[in-house]
Amino acid sequence: MQTLRVDLGERAYPIHIGEHLLSSAGLILPQLDLPRVAIVTDTTVAALYLQLLAEALQAGGVDVMNIVLEDGERSKDWATLNRIYDALLGRRCDRKTTLVALGGGVVGDLAGFAAATYMRGIPFIQVPTTLLAQVDSSIGGKTGINHPLGKNMIGAFYQPRMVLADTSVLKSLPPRQLSAGMAEVIKHGLIRDAAFFAWLEQNMDKLLACDPQALAFAVRRCCEIKAAVVAEDERETGVRALLNFGHTFGHAIESGLGYGAWLHGEAVAAGMVMAAELSRRMGLITRADVDRIIALLRRAGLPVAPPEIAPGLVLELMRVDKKAEGGKLRFVLLDRIGAASVRTDVQDVLLRQSLASGIG
Ligand SMILES: NC(=O)c1ccc[n+]([C@@H]2O[C@H](COP(=O)([O-])OP(=O)(O)OC[C@H]3O[C@@H](n4cnc5c(N)ncnc54)[C@H](O)[C@@H]3O)[C@@H](O)[C@H]2O)c1
Repeated sequence: MQTLRVDLGERAYPIHIGEHLLSSAGLILPQLDLPRVAIVTDTTVAALYLQLLAEALQAGGVDVMNIVLEDGERSKDWATLNRIYDALLGRRCDRKTTLVALGGGVVGDLAGFAAATYMRGIPFIQVPTTLLAQVDSSIGGKTGINHPLGKNMIGAFYQPRMVLADTSVLKSLPPRQLSAGMAEVIKHGLIRDAAFFAWLEQNMDKLLACDPQALAFAVRRCCEIKAAVVAEDERETGVRALLNFGHTFGHAIESGLGYGAWLHGEAVAAGMVMAAELSRRMGLITRADVDRIIALLRRAGLPVAPPEIAPGLVLELMRVDKKAEGGKLRFVLLDRIGAASVRTDVQDVLLRQSLASGIG
């Protein structure tokens, strides 16, 4: 097992990464105020791993209740959030009950927001079970739900007490979900670490085959990058915005198509190609760089062009996105592979050309 820390002063917390950690309640017990836990999970993950985690906690003397939600992005809404509050209130859970999110980014974002708001905040632990959640969504404290008018529009910053990333559970992920997570893995290399990007080019086949050592290395490197960025800028007033590379386009694709039609990682992959293309049109990177990015995303089994949505709708949806400030669009663009920056000086004509070239 490897342990990293997210350095946030008195809210600092550990990220444990390793195989077969789900059954080791010993890591969780010291984080609990009282031996009372509500595990939030979804139907798919419950069938695979709920018993393992619940029994490990019960064996450690913990009173465990389960809250099992419908699986999928469409659950990231008010109605499902209310089901968590209903269950907590129905069981008279108090401020010292710890909420444990067992699942992917959907469960983590929902449970995190419930933990941030139930009785004005209760302890929260992330047990991410998708690649995307292990390398990205479980770290950094962004929680929330979608609104029909925009992705992740309602939410809160709320840090977990601990992240427990058991890499052995990734073996049961359907290939499409593994690929979706790979989009965020590739993103970390693109924005911060050219050597990691090159390593991914060498090792993509091993990763897709769930080679334990390759997965452990990739999860760890992404967690290191994300933890460092979050420690520097928890509330996204500066460098943290770089983690949104590909997301302005990606979120527009997700809400434009209706949540769940494309997986989040798939929309981000197509969004990263559009952002790379825009970076090239701005004279920042070369055609050869864009080709390298497209080739790696393709090898990871990801889409490299957006679906058929009218460019006008994409633009409109991007203006609703949180990354727009005072109606002005902000883009994360690549200065080179391994370095990115936020730009507000993108000319409309270049943006339209990038959207059209992606779609055409
Ligand atoms: N909070 C953040 O910082 C942040 C960052 C990136 C993405 N996100 C959010 O994360 C969400 C996407 O997360 P996701 O890709 O994990 O999707 P998800 O939570 O929907 O999980 C994907 C699917 O995999 C299943 N699953 C989970 N673990 C499994 C396992 N070990 N074996 C088999 N099946 C398993 C789930 O039941 C689900 O059907 C989006 O809503 C996105 O907005 C949040």
